Amino acid sequence: MKIIQELEQDQLVVNAPFVQEMMETTYNMWRLGWDERNGGNISYILKEDEVIGYVNPERVLRTISLDFPVVELANKYFIVTGSGKYFKNVKSNPAECLGILKVTNDGDAVELLWGLTGDGKPTSELPSHFISHIARLRQDEKHRVIMHTHATNIIAMTFTHELDEKSFSKTLWKMCTECIVVFPEGIRLLPWMVPGTNEIGKATAEKMEDARLVIWPFHGIFGAGESIDETFGLIETAEKAAQVYMLASAHRGGISQDITDQQLADLAKAFNVEPNKNYL
Ligand code: 13P
Ligand code: ZN
Repeated sequence: MKIIQELEQDQLVVNAPFVQEMMETTYNMWRLGWDERNGGNISYILKEDEVIGYVNPERVLRTISLDFPVVELANKYFIVTGSGKYFKNVKSNPAECLGILKVTNDGDAVELLWGLTGDGKPTSELPSHFISHIARLRQDEKHRVIMHTHATNIIAMTFTHELDEKSFSKTLWKMCTECIVVFPEGIRLLPWMVPGTNEIGKATAEKMEDARLVIWPFHGIFGAGESIDETFGLIETAEKAAQVYMLASAHRGGISQDITDQQLADLAKAFNVEPNKNYL
């Protein structure tokens, strides 16, 4: 009887708004061509009262140890994508592709409360996600989402554009009028590094201290935000600017004109945002 109740409970979790959001978003990201195969990963901080309506935090399915301490995230709940899971398939098989986790009191492990069936593991980029969450929470107590994706034109641009944070940011700002309003702090860039490591996690999080977009050359982008929608929108805006850049610069003669520095300053003033002083 208990087992039947637990099985029914597991089914109900799929109806949770935060699970539905993950299903919709991963599908959209795949549809946009950003997340081929198992590319991309998302982690989303859940509030306790959101979670306990759907899962019992006392019913721990498995404990997964972490080799990087995250005591700052102790007792926080997350929904994350699984390692090796295809974004294309999350919608049709959420219990296998997603997991609801609670960080232990010591911050050295996570307890699996739902999902990741068949011995699945959280994303291999969990160090970058968790350490970035810590960095963003220091800046914004409403922060909730870290999203990593292989946005096509952002990656393409890292092959052709100078890999300098200031000039890369300014080029993106100048490709679409809304960019400076959406990410006035600009983007940050890492050197190429091996993914899935604690080192790239620390380097990403350091950049997240004062920015919400961090580009990994020849790989993809990390975005941070207060909601799934906001984080998706942030990446989508940068990716759109990168697409315009790739289209325009490939044209014979290249880019002949763009938004000027004065126009960027006018935009920032009109929309009441403070652009990064080191960039503009
Ligand atoms: P995961 O399948 O482990 O999430 O890895 C995908 C990825 O994009 C690595 O950078
Ligand atoms: Zn990746």
